[in-house]
Amino acid sequence: MSELKPPAAWWAVARSEEVTGLKPLSADIADQPIVLWRDKQGVARALEDRCPHRRAPLSLGCIRESGWIQCGYHGWTYDGETGRLKEIPKEQEIVAYCRGPYCLMAFEAVAELRKKGRSARRLEDGFPEWRSAGLPVEIA
Ligand code: FES
Repeated sequence: MSELKPPAAWWAVARSEEVTGLKPLSADIADQPIVLWRDKQGVARALEDRCPHRRAPLSLGCIRESGWIQCGYHGWTYDGETGRLKEIPKEQEIVAYCRGPYCLMAFEAVAELRKKGRSARRLEDGFPEWRSAGLPVEIA
């Protein structure tokens, strides 16, 4: 997830009572969309309002019981404290690609994911082949 870089100043973007643990709130800081919500402990959290997966606005998602925010598009879930990916829905296959078609880490990643009951496979070719096949590519 890209790092949220707010301007070096305090900006009022919402009233405290508008930021809840019930529904994400969309706001802007200097034309940068952000999503606000409260986690399980009631701490206000903010992330860029774009899911790292396919850039859907996280503010259209929901807040899970865990206090993490879940994207409404494919269901990926992020921790508001770190912005890190915490969960991918179980029914989604994970394609492992590390440093190229011969990268050993991709084999290990697939083995680990399968051990945990996830559907996973290694990307057989490289990034250029994936792209030329017209498969989705997003470069941050
Ligand atoms: S766009 Fe958010 S999970 Fe896919």
